[in-house]
Amino acid sequence: MQSLFRGNKRESPEPVKAEIQGQIPQWLQGTLIRNGPGMHKIGDTVYNHWFDGLSLLHSFTFENGEVFYRSRYLRSDTYKSNIEANRIVVSEFGTMAYPDPCKNIFSKAVSYLTHAIPDFTDNCLINIIKYGEDFFASSEVNYIRRIDPRTLETLEKVDYTKYVSLNLATSHPHYDGEGNTYNMGTSIAEKGKTKYLFVKIPNTKLVTSKLDQEEPMDIIYLGFKKAFDKTYIHIIDRKTKKPLPVKFYTDALIVYHHVNAYEEDNHVVFDIIAYDDNGLYEMFYLENMTSSNQKFDIKGKTFSLPSCRRFIIPLDHDKTTELSRNMCTLGNTTAYALKEKDGSVYCKPEVLFEGIELPQINYDYNGSKYRYIYASKVRWRPIPTKVIKCDIQSRSCLEWREEHCWPAEPVFVKLPDSKDEDDGVILSSIVSTDAKKSSFLLILDAKTFKELGRASVSVDVHLDLHGIFIPEEELQAKKKLQSLEESSS
Ligand SMILES: [Fe+2]
Repeated sequence: MQSLFRGNKRESPEPVKAEIQGQIPQWLQGTLIRNGPGMHKIGDTVYNHWFDGLSLLHSFTFENGEVFYRSRYLRSDTYKSNIEANRIVVSEFGTMAYPDPCKNIFSKAVSYLTHAIPDFTDNCLINIIKYGEDFFASSEVNYIRRIDPRTLETLEKVDYTKYVSLNLATSHPHYDGEGNTYNMGTSIAEKGKTKYLFVKIPNTKLVTSKLDQEEPMDIIYLGFKKAFDKTYIHIIDRKTKKPLPVKFYTDALIVYHHVNAYEEDNHVVFDIIAYDDNGLYEMFYLENMTSSNQKFDIKGKTFSLPSCRRFIIPLDHDKTTELSRNMCTLGNTTAYALKEKDGSVYCKPEVLFEGIELPQINYDYNGSKYRYIYASKVRWRPIPTKVIKCDIQSRSCLEWREEHCWPAEPVFVKLPDSKDEDDGVILSSIVSTDAKKSSFLLILDAKTFKELGRASVSVDVHLDLHGIFIPEEELQAKKKLQSLEESSS
């Protein structure tokens, strides 16, 4: 397994035709674009953490039953500076770099004393975000990089802070049916004071020169309170844009990914992937990832496993609500909520599924009652070994796994004119560490979880983090819009 993390990956910017086994559905037309770290060593310098590596975009394009693979390093300013200097000169989340040897501890001290917000890296290696008609590589800072979704070429750099005071933004926004995008992040004010910020990006082009400051943006500020033994849950009313006055809380936990949330009979139901500790980040230090199997096994077992937890927040309560009575009245769950003397409500989740991460759903069910979660299955190791379909109704699972195969986050693509929630396919990029087997894109029937086909490529394929599927008609619409703009200018 350690071979997964050794050596930089070679890019394949020209399309590579995949070898198909099985059947690729004819209706599946479009491109799966994914993002993740591909280069961890520059010259003699090495990043400390796997999440620091330079962004390598890759894509699988479906055309009439055939599949073409491409990969291309994001030509970020960080990439260019590092390659030019032949060493790491831009700091990342887990690696401190000193661009100028004279500017080391002293410049750091000056930044600290003046409470200056550091200029972050634009090595956007986590996800692909759609804003309006454009696609961006993103991480979790103020910079995103526009990309060409067909060729994976790097386009302009966009700075969120030019539009709103957003210094850190998530790489997991949400989309509505009108093409608007919603994101949240942190605003860092003077002296390091922080606020949460929610933004709605209208369905227009998000390009530095074209976004109008007066575009309607729904912005909600929320106070931020540190809590080391509790986790506070803030519920915001979308109509009033105000948080509910009741203080909801649960035990301390760490969460990176939300699965879904919806309202049912005056309750808010939400499912998250949570950890009891920060072991996940610890495990991804390259020192851990490249240690011997035995050492890795011992260390890995000391960290908590992710679990999918369901919280149910009762909205219907007042001063007469009895203390210590379960306020959740929804059936089919062991989650409960208890009112306490000070008026706060303690929420205990139900663990729906153990050992799953990188959750995906049929996005038509986002914000609605739903039944299926598609995810990666992990044991105590951080690297997934299986693709899994979880049925919330029956609490049962279907799995796909193969020896020496390391699956990426599964992406659900719905069948045109689908009727059932699971009518569609699951796409997962699989890295093979079997010398006799190439890496491939796996296509599963989302209903049965049986393999429909695979598209193998005999070039480097890297372990990635997140991505999206762009249907062909969306790419065509974008192309049309581009040519209209070109002809009118
Ligand atoms: Fe993520």
